[in-house]
Amino acid sequence: MKFSLQANDPLSKARAGTVTTAHGEIQTPIFMPVGTAGTVKAVHQRELKEDIDAKIILGNTYHLYLRPGLDILEKAGGLHKFIGWDRPILTDSGGYQVYSLSKVRKIKEEGVTFHSHIDGSKHLFTPEYAMDIQRTIGADIIMAFDECTPYPCDYTYAAQSIKMTHRWLKRCCERFDTTEPKYGFDQTLFPIVQGSVYKDLRIKSAEFIASMGREGNAIGGLSVGEPAEEMYAMTEIVCDILPAEKPRYLMGVGTPINILENIALGVDMFDCVMPTRNARNGMLFTRNGIINIRNKKWENDFSPLDAESDLHADQVTTKAYLRHLVHSNEMLGAQIATLHNLHFYLWLVKEAREKIIAGEFYDWKNKMVKILGNKL
Ligand code: GUN
Repeated sequence: MKFSLQANDPLSKARAGTVTTAHGEIQTPIFMPVGTAGTVKAVHQRELKEDIDAKIILGNTYHLYLRPGLDILEKAGGLHKFIGWDRPILTDSGGYQVYSLSKVRKIKEEGVTFHSHIDGSKHLFTPEYAMDIQRTIGADIIMAFDECTPYPCDYTYAAQSIKMTHRWLKRCCERFDTTEPKYGFDQTLFPIVQGSVYKDLRIKSAEFIASMGREGNAIGGLSVGEPAEEMYAMTEIVCDILPAEKPRYLMGVGTPINILENIALGVDMFDCVMPTRNARNGMLFTRNGIINIRNKKWENDFSPLDAESDLHADQVTTKAYLRHLVHSNEMLGAQIATLHNLHFYLWLVKEAREKIIAGEFYDWKNKMVKILGNKL
């Protein structure tokens, strides 16, 4: 993997860069649609490519390991081949999903024991196994196995937790560096900064993560319920420590406003279920603010979702029709709403990049933050 920087915004810490992987280039800042179980829910791979031009998608180790399982993925020749996607993929390590999804879990130095949310079966993820699984899935960018602390989290727990996450990281690196990719193309491992909302712990963790000298770095443990201002304070401290010449990935963030504010602090990569999950409940993100398409207000609105959008579905779908589809629980409602939201998120980061390159990001960001807070 390679990373190059094309521009720095003069009035903020925003940057425009390019990540080069074996499956192609990603211009940053970038948003990565979440494709948990080998599908970005309700969107076909052809639409991801041709309608919204997604450059990279995310998969989850936890889900893919449980279903379809490693045997099938290996026989398929890896996740790219299995799902028919030839652009970059990033997989999360399971270091978040085991905490948020599995029923019983025990965290020990060795790793995390958990029960599958599907059939209750018992499994153990260790840092080494999380690397082996991600070798078998075959993503371009794989994530270290970490503990994502909850919010709130007391200081003593958070301090112990980063120590364990750092020990786990050493084990991840050791395993990753002594194993080979399975499908003939390079993979890279990103470590994850933790430390809850404590400045000194974030500094300690960021310094340790930077010292590991990997090709890119991630920030975890945020957007877990803390106020946005605390998130920004942590991102700022961490971005100032993580090396400028490597991409910075903020995990699981966030709203369009969160994304713009974090770009301004020096973050390059984002993922979040919000545009996909909220679409299925009728929440639409637009250039003028947030719409709930289920509202009665749209019942007789026969104007297109967005006449100026270059997304075909935005031009030909009326608000009244999408409201009807979502109300009726029609699958097409979820498909159109999801495509719309992902198109919006990808437009937002692309526009941010253009503004950074033009040296106009800061004022544009402040203007957009005001507009995007609107509830229409
Ligand atoms: N996704 C969102 N936050 C996190 C985190 O802290 N760790 C991991 N592994 N994934 C995440």
